[in-house]
Amino acid sequence: MADLDIMTGQEKDTLLKGHDADGITEFDNDMPLWWLIGFIFTVVFAFGYVVQYHMSDGPSSKKEYEQEVAEFNKSKDPAGATQAAVVLNPLTDAASLDAGKTLFNGAQNTCYTCHRNDLGGMVGPNLTDEFWIHGGDLNAIMKSIKMGYPDKGMMPYGTNARLSDRQVLQLASFILSMKGSNPPSPKPIDPAREVKFVPEAEQAATEAEKPKDAKTTAPAEKKAEPANKAVAAKK
Ligand code: HEC
Repeated sequence: MADLDIMTGQEKDTLLKGHDADGITEFDNDMPLWWLIGFIFTVVFAFGYVVQYHMSDGPSSKKEYEQEVAEFNKSKDPAGATQAAVVLNPLTDAASLDAGKTLFNGAQNTCYTCHRNDLGGMVGPNLTDEFWIHGGDLNAIMKSIKMGYPDKGMMPYGTNARLSDRQVLQLASFILSMKGSNPPSPKPIDPAREVKFVPEAEQAATEAEKPKDAKTTAPAEKKAEPANKAVAAKK
């Protein structure tokens, strides 16, 4: 009778488990009803879970992860296309080119003191011809302005400290707009250092024929160097 009462939760704290640790004992009461309901729920849930996710077509964790990544990528780019690098185009409107010109000749940036008002070059190279040391496309020119060449005397102008990105773009656009303007007596090209800027597509095409040329032109370039130094020394 006592056993039954315990089973139905009638009788509390009567049946001792029989172990005793320094006077601390344990009763064998049944679990509270709320706990039992929770426990039974987990068992039922587990059956449902196994059936749904292991036996039928519930998505696996891996699949869910992949779905979330795909959704995130889509939200980044509504078109669903993979994002290409941002392509900047030179500004061509008169206002922007004017702004670039003002920046170039301004007392604050003093580009003109090294590259001349007509960009013909003095301390810095001529910026109007097709020869570039660091590349003559918009990105390369912007990079030149931003990073500068401190070891050659040109300080970095970018990262918003001196010039905003917009201003750098205006400057670079202005420089590109002056291409081929043939200023009088430009700074001479140093053939040992300055290389003609060839767009990437053409570069790949000529690269294939290069090795032979490279061998024949390299010594010539070396010979040219002392001559240039002599010229520089005379000045
Ligand atoms: C103190 C002199 C000086 C000032 C000021 C100066 N530059 Fe330069 N700049 C140079 C020198 C020197 C070089 C060549 C660096 C080299 O030989 O690697 C150069 C290189 C460049 C180049 C790369 C040319 C090439 O052939 O790849 C660009 C573009 C340029 N400058 C733009 C500017 C602009 C725009 C400004 C003003 C915001 C400016 N520079 C201010 C001295 C200067």
